[in-house]
Amino acid sequence: MIGGYMLQGKKIVLGITGSIAAYKSCLIIRQLVKRGAEVQVVITPAGKEFITPITLSALTSKPVVSDFFAQRDGTWHSHVDLGLWADAMVIAPATASTIGKMANGVADNMLITTYLSMKAPVFIAPAMDLDMYAHPSTQQNLKTLQSYGNHIIEPGTGFLASKLEGKGRMEEPENIVACLEKFFAQKESMKGKKVLITAGPTYEKIDPVRFIGNYSSGKMGFALANECANRGAQVEFVCGPVSSAMQVSHPNIHRTDVESAQEMFEACKTLYPSMDSAILCAAVADFAPETVAVQKMKRTGDDLVIRLKPNPDIAALLGQMKKNGQTLVGFALETNDEESNAQSKLKKKNFDFIVLNSLRDEGAGFRTDTNKISIITSNTKKDYPLKTKGEVAKDIVDELECL
Ligand code: PMT
Repeated sequence: MIGGYMLQGKKIVLGITGSIAAYKSCLIIRQLVKRGAEVQVVITPAGKEFITPITLSALTSKPVVSDFFAQRDGTWHSHVDLGLWADAMVIAPATASTIGKMANGVADNMLITTYLSMKAPVFIAPAMDLDMYAHPSTQQNLKTLQSYGNHIIEPGTGFLASKLEGKGRMEEPENIVACLEKFFAQKESMKGKKVLITAGPTYEKIDPVRFIGNYSSGKMGFALANECANRGAQVEFVCGPVSSAMQVSHPNIHRTDVESAQEMFEACKTLYPSMDSAILCAAVADFAPETVAVQKMKRTGDDLVIRLKPNPDIAALLGQMKKNGQTLVGFALETNDEESNAQSKLKKKNFDFIVLNSLRDEGAGFRTDTNKISIITSNTKKDYPLKTKGEVAKDIVDELECL
């Protein structure tokens, strides 16, 4: 069990929006205050229709912030200061409207401006009816917010679930507080550690308009970067070409964008010597065209032969560079003979463990929001069920921390 001392002295911004579940915010405040946390409420205009600022300020012993300026004397409420002050921001309940505004940066109230200025981790507890929750817009917005490193807290799982049944109802106050406690308990576990993470595909140029690439979206790698950063590690994040919607916002993450395997190799070779660990999640092209045409290639004959040359095997080269005290984790994406292929990559590339995912498993691998993995060492194999990539990242980083 995690003791309440984890929240002693923590500064929490509690965002409250216009949902019937707003009354439960009082219970969240009570539990936070009981555990020694300092709570500053920021409420939307709709939120005030459901619960009065007087109740909230009585519970927090602080004036409630709702407007950009105090009605009484015109004092400016600084969302920037709140963003610097907080150790965490919790938005509970979070309506579909607020979730949509957060995902799209629509800064039309104090709560959203505070969110956009927030330097601390953000926890979001959605509250709405199932139809609104299940709507693709809401689901997309939640995925967007999660890909930015926010924590989505839902009933049952504690975090964003892959199934919709029974969803939309706000998680119970005690479980929201438990998520915060768990977070702060883990937060420091990788403090002082430096981790290199690769993500996404590589593109190998054929000519100015074409390339050889693959289907990697970067989602698994982004989840790993956020997980390590949330545990206090400094993350060097080397990322292949992914959608511009894929962004990191955690201050512990330093991102280097690359395009080809050769560029990824150069970045990793420079960074790895000063790292404690590396997790190589990128789907790196093993071959690249021998020559890159200067101009767009024209259709001339009935066939076209492109000669390929081998790319550096980044993992194998880092495996050779690995020093005592450094760790190296790789992935294996397989379509057949999964375990034996993973075992031979584990050995050949000198990984401490390898994360196997197979395209034969539904919901696993490229582009999905979920993954199904096995963690394999030379003499052990742990199989995990299908989970969100955020949860899979936790399992992988838990294993890394045990090395
Ligand atoms: O990005 P997503 O859409 O979320 O999908 C996630 C993923 C499927 C890409 C990810 O889970 C995954 O499996 N990544 C590794 C994919 C891969 O290229 O596997 P591999 O079996 O070909 O490579 C084995 C290991 O060697 C990997 O750690 C890879 O990063 C590394 N490698 C491979 C080739 C190469 N030239 N250099 C390398 O470092």
